[in-house]
Amino acid sequence: MNEKILIGTNWKMTKTLAEGRDYLRRLIEIKKSLSSKIELFVIPSFPHLYPLKELLQESDIKLGAQTMHWEERGAYTGEVSPLMLEEAGVDLIELGHSERRQYYNENDIDLNKKVKAALQKRITPLLCIGENSVDKARNTGNEKIRKQLKVSLYGLTKEEISNVQIAYEPVWAIGSKGVPASAEYVREQHSNIRHLLIELFDETGEDVPILYGGSVNEQNFESYLNCKNVNGLFIGRSAWDIQSFEKILLTIDKNY
Ligand code: PGA
Repeated sequence: MNEKILIGTNWKMTKTLAEGRDYLRRLIEIKKSLSSKIELFVIPSFPHLYPLKELLQESDIKLGAQTMHWEERGAYTGEVSPLMLEEAGVDLIELGHSERRQYYNENDIDLNKKVKAALQKRITPLLCIGENSVDKARNTGNEKIRKQLKVSLYGLTKEEISNVQIAYEPVWAIGSKGVPASAEYVREQHSNIRHLLIELFDETGEDVPILYGGSVNEQNFESYLNCKNVNGLFIGRSAWDIQSFEKILLTIDKNY
């Protein structure tokens, strides 16, 4: 089983380059004081990838991008390709975040192409899945999650799945209007996801990291990390403020 604790943050569209640089300089210092069991990643906006990669030269903090196309080149105005992200030195690609699904029609069939394209470039796909409030109210959340995983991971070999990471983020728990999920709920959902991964990929499914995200904060992060099959945290607002993120990281380092 994966012994690492994966912790990362997607900055969404929240930071200028100067703010991103200040934040990252501080995070690089914090990372030096943490044990190697904590694997850290940050996911800034596209224009900041090159300058921030340079800042990260001496650090083992991983750099991610927030979405990508599956084709290498073509007439796709506004899109960024796996080839371009490879050139920029990106380690990780966030795919299928609920905001991408909701506002930009990112769907499971296309996500399947994106996952495969990322793997071809040795960029780790961080596939985001999760049910929305309607699914939850109608008790169809598990079907939704199963479909998201089965379609997005369709056709992957065992070797390929071992290079994929999953972020489970119930849509109703994300963002300023989100309601934090109970630890009990998270434990059950992660267990369901683990079982499905094993159903699809046999024992290789045991080792696929499953991160939890959605209103993770200084008060509740330990309750989630204590759950079996929660292999890390994907944090928005509470990690955008470096002081709050530092407190979370130091506590994890001390207690886990
Ligand atoms: P949040 O964001 O922690 O601010 O709820 C999580 C996410 O969107 O991944």
